[in-house]
Amino acid sequence: MRTKLVAGNWKLNGSLDSIRGLIGGIKAGMDSVSQAGVAVCPPAIFIPEVAALVEGSRIAIGSQNICEQDSGAYTGEISGSMLNEFGCSYAIVGHSERRSLYGESDDMVAARFAAARRNGLKPILCVGELLEEREGGITEQVVGRQLDAVINLEGIDAFADAVIAYEPVWAIGTGKTASPEQAQEVHRFIRGKMSALNATIAENLVIQYGGSVNGSNAKELFGMPDIDGGLIGGAALQAEGFLAICQAAD
Ligand code: 13P
Repeated sequence: MRTKLVAGNWKLNGSLDSIRGLIGGIKAGMDSVSQAGVAVCPPAIFIPEVAALVEGSRIAIGSQNICEQDSGAYTGEISGSMLNEFGCSYAIVGHSERRSLYGESDDMVAARFAAARRNGLKPILCVGELLEEREGGITEQVVGRQLDAVINLEGIDAFADAVIAYEPVWAIGTGKTASPEQAQEVHRFIRGKMSALNATIAENLVIQYGGSVNGSNAKELFGMPDIDGGLIGGAALQAEGFLAICQAAD
């Protein structure tokens, strides 16, 4: 039995003042979320502050990225052990913005996935196709390739302790959500691919959907058989909207 997980990816947003208000608001409404897992992924510099703010609640913390190396001359990077030390339990890897804006290849994403696991963090592996790839009919090929890079490096067993987020790039920040049927089709493909390698791991694997999820469309998306919650961008920046999505996953 899978437990749904809703994670807010704050991206490059927030201030000390705004995150205090946001976490305060989410905490105040957590009584209305009894089953679903809830996590927030703040900009790294806010992680210690968020860790202090969520103490005593069941809100988990994730990083937005992680270095593939554990230490050394890697200016600007943050390691898994550092994230762990400051209270992270998840690490997003391979977000499409990292892939497209910062040139992270499939192999680099796989190495970052490995670094998360090595340091006791659960990777949230983002996969998803561009609009032209969908229109070209190669969505499954693209998502399959992104998954294979990780499976080839870490093996299928690594997914016993990982989350996948299917985020079609054309749906991110555009207000254009994939329809529940469109999303379900890719989620079923992902679970089927994993199932061919290990049926138990596939059955227990949490596969989130991400891309313009909000309080109005979450329930229908999360009602699909292979959609196990969401990775939320814009709508995670306001407590009320984020809580509505968490409730939809409950
Ligand atoms: P939006 O919810 O703003 O479309 O962003 C989705 C996303 O990229 C989450 O990682």
